[in-house]
Amino acid sequence: MAIRDILIIPDKRLRAKSEPVKAIDASVRALVGDMFETMYAAPGIGLAAIQIGVAHRVVTMDLAAKDAPPEPKVFINPEIVGASAEKSTYEEGCLSIPEYYEAVERPQAVKVKYLDLDGKAQEIEADGLLATCLQHEVDHLNGVLFIDHISKLKRDMVMKKFKKAAKKADSDKPNSDELAGDKEPSHHIG
Ligand code: NI
Repeated sequence: MAIRDILIIPDKRLRAKSEPVKAIDASVRALVGDMFETMYAAPGIGLAAIQIGVAHRVVTMDLAAKDAPPEPKVFINPEIVGASAEKSTYEEGCLSIPEYYEAVERPQAVKVKYLDLDGKAQEIEADGLLATCLQHEVDHLNGVLFIDHISKLKRDMVMKKFKKAAKKADSDKPNSDELAGDKEPSHHIG
């Protein structure tokens, strides 16, 4: 296992549509191992493979509280097959858009079909943070970022800041002071 570099906007690879996993083989297991290591190190609660530059439909997640034992979850080829009419709003963040948080409204509950690491078909009904996180990560697999769900004005502003930061030769990370904004950060969703 290895900690991999997390792609940061405006990296164009984050806009790629990821391909379904055809067979869960050793390379997929190695990818999942790297994803968990990278996600825990960040730290984040969810990660899509494309965030480390691999355009395969693989998501890792761990929503366990800080002091609780880890609860690693893997979703391969996840597909949202149902969503509640009821919405909920959560302050989202993303490891690919560090130190930026904004309220996003999404369905409060979703039904998701996926394969587990043994290739077995699974289906879950998720609500709350799990539902939010699953929708955020499935978005990544389709090249969609949480900032696509906020106003164009706010999105343009954050894109501009990150484009500027990416140009800085002396740093590969945006200046967090510049991006902190006026809101208290919660945590990165993934
Ligand atoms: Ni994300």
